[in-house]
Amino acid sequence: MHTLATAPAAGRSWADLDDFQAFIDAGGMVEPGDDMPPEYRDEVFRFIEFHANSELMGGLTERDWIPHAPGLRLKQVFLAKTQDEIGHAHLLYMVAADMSVKTRTEMLEDLFAGRSRFHNVFHYQAVTWADQIAIAYLVDAAAFASQRAVFAECTYGPYKRVLKRIVAEEGFHMRHGEEMLLRLATGTGTQRAMFQEALNRWWWPAVQLFGPDSDPDDPLLRWKIKSQRNEDLRAAYVQKYVPLLHGYGFEIPDPELRQDDDGRWHAGPIDWEPLKATMRMGGPDSKRRIETAAQNWADTAWVRDALDRQGVGT
Ligand SMILES: [Fe+2]
Ligand SMILES: [Fe+2]
Repeated sequence: MHTLATAPAAGRSWADLDDFQAFIDAGGMVEPGDDMPPEYRDEVFRFIEFHANSELMGGLTERDWIPHAPGLRLKQVFLAKTQDEIGHAHLLYMVAADMSVKTRTEMLEDLFAGRSRFHNVFHYQAVTWADQIAIAYLVDAAAFASQRAVFAECTYGPYKRVLKRIVAEEGFHMRHGEEMLLRLATGTGTQRAMFQEALNRWWWPAVQLFGPDSDPDDPLLRWKIKSQRNEDLRAAYVQKYVPLLHGYGFEIPDPELRQDDDGRWHAGPIDWEPLKATMRMGGPDSKRRIETAAQNWADTAWVRDALDRQGVGT
């Protein structure tokens, strides 16, 4: 075991991964111009690209609901949320592009051709306004928890810096979801029934957002990009949201949900097939979502062309 805990001198490379691990374990941070093992570059790039794609696909969904949001105040909220999510995507694509694995255009072209992945929850369709509330309440909270867990450590400097802003804004989204749910939960019987139906559709996708149990030797944990295992984040989420939803009088669509002697809630067995289907772009709404996003990219080509002609670049 090596004990080297400082970055290699300028112009030199990491001798081996043990040296790099010792650097990370000693609190080392990696910046774009630094030497980094190819394995670290690839894993971190893939993770940030996935995050960026998810922000963009999520933002496009929020945009779709602006015309349907009831009342000016909620339209303003959804407009702001859309701007936040698209802004998150922009920041993350810039950070990812600086890793020199793919350009931003290549990442977007891969996304719109269905060649690169994004979060499972954005492969489903929001059918009613109550679905949007379930998304704001359950999905934004799940995204907030997983992003905060990355921000807690995150050895890749630029990613940590943009996450500070992203996590702060996701916190507002989560609070907004809580406010909207409170209004629906204290509303009419029809409103409560609408939310229960939305909860039935969105509970499992939200729980699955954290992914299956982390590999015992997940390199993203070893290199301190992630700070918590997927199963621990998922368990904490279930423990927090089951009592809250019960408190509002809603039922969790999990017949095998149980509470142990210490009062902790545990989800029943999880069928991971729906998550795997989304990763193959075979989710219930994957095709339409990707086609819509690709169409949006094609429709806005004239903006990029105009900027290129002005020498501004995109
Ligand atoms: Fe976001
Ligand atoms: Fe959000």
